[in-house]
Amino acid sequence: MPDPLNSAAFLTLLADAQRQLDAGFAHLPENPSAPLGDAAAAVLADAATRLHDNYPYAHPLYAGQMLKPPHPVARAAYALAMSVNPNNHALDGGRASSAMELEAVAEIAAMFGFPRQHLGHLTSSGTIANLEALWVAGLTRPGKAIAASSQAHYTHTRISGVLGIPFVPIPVDDTNRIDLVALESLLQTHQIGTVVATLGTTATGSVDPLDELLILQQKYGFRIHVDAAYGGYFTLASNLEPAARRAYDAIPQADSVVVDPHKHGLQPYGCGCVLFRDPAVGRFYKHDSPFTYFTSGALHLGEISLECSRAGASAVALWTTQRLLPLTPGGAFAQGISQGREAALDFYRRISESPLFIAPIHPPQLDIVFYAAAAPTPAASSALAQKIFDEAAKIDLHVALARLSVTLFPSGTWSFNSETASESTVLCLRSVFMKPEHLLWIERIWALLDAAANTVAASE
Ligand SMILES: Cc1ncc(COP(=O)(O)O)c(C=O)c1O
Repeated sequence: MPDPLNSAAFLTLLADAQRQLDAGFAHLPENPSAPLGDAAAAVLADAATRLHDNYPYAHPLYAGQMLKPPHPVARAAYALAMSVNPNNHALDGGRASSAMELEAVAEIAAMFGFPRQHLGHLTSSGTIANLEALWVAGLTRPGKAIAASSQAHYTHTRISGVLGIPFVPIPVDDTNRIDLVALESLLQTHQIGTVVATLGTTATGSVDPLDELLILQQKYGFRIHVDAAYGGYFTLASNLEPAARRAYDAIPQADSVVVDPHKHGLQPYGCGCVLFRDPAVGRFYKHDSPFTYFTSGALHLGEISLECSRAGASAVALWTTQRLLPLTPGGAFAQGISQGREAALDFYRRISESPLFIAPIHPPQLDIVFYAAAAPTPAASSALAQKIFDEAAKIDLHVALARLSVTLFPSGTWSFNSETASESTVLCLRSVFMKPEHLLWIERIWALLDAAANTVAASE
């Protein structure tokens, strides 16, 4: 039977590791659990069938949203740890997994060039990690607002609302990066306490110029939080364009940074990470709970985290993955990140040369490519994009859709008249080439997209 999700090798890996784990508890008296009989098998089979109703995210022909399959070793380590089910809130709940979290997080901090004495931990998501970073930012800059580009992740507005901190969106330039002129005129009001720099925006993978923000910071003294939930691991890439490289090299000067191992870090969902350059922010977390922390005087992760219970299994999965694929420049993991970017550049070139599509003015900064369908107006292009999206899915190629500004495309792309003058956005096709294998599959992905676009064109 074909095995496109490579499940057989995974199950062997897990079974061997589970035997090794069980051996550590073999001295305990027998405690028979309820048998996993036919009823369990039947409901699990039902669940497997229900899960057919998904796009094939793990397969390279899924080249749509930001979805990357966890590494088999991460899946196995997570499943293994669940048989213990540690809680990394406190050492009582997970001694080994807490130590593994500290080690794995220190490796992420080292990847960014953060000082050895930092404060950081895993979170259940990028949103919670950003919430925590902005909570601390607000406490260090009381009464001041948070600013981020209009392309920053939508949750920053929401988080600021939750924290009761005013939020100011800053316009972007024609590369979807924060407009520094607009930002500086706002900074002159001295109302801004924190600026969020997004290194890898969600829609287009644009990289805010962190190096230039640092120059403004010297003049205006604001705090800088880097949201690299999506793009953080690109700091390891060997093929960034110079502006992006400069931004990534400036991360060690930022006050805080967020990265999501559950995006590019090959982890199952439920794994974000927040890092603070100054460990003294730990003072904001102080609390006095009588029912936790009672078995050890050592630092507990729960003492430096906004969340209480957290899956120790996430830390075990991350630690194991980083053991196999260390976060070192030039290593296998780093090469995988660079390959995604290479695939995106290759795809952008094909789009630029095709009469059926319109490429944006600027090539991708990371591994996200967006492109419009060739048509005389934004509305006609949008309608065509939807049809190509549907047609591609019929032949098992899955891309994504995103509504973006027409200013990202060369001027003169569309003819505007009195009826179309107000069309400031266009529905684009979008592909995130997150899987290293995408580079090997790019020829086939292009052939399928081209075929879908030709079918749509023939039916118009
Ligand atoms: C730049 C950026 N920040 C934050 C988030 C939110 O992360 P999460 O979905 O893990 O909560 C995302 C998600 O796509 C993102 O791309």
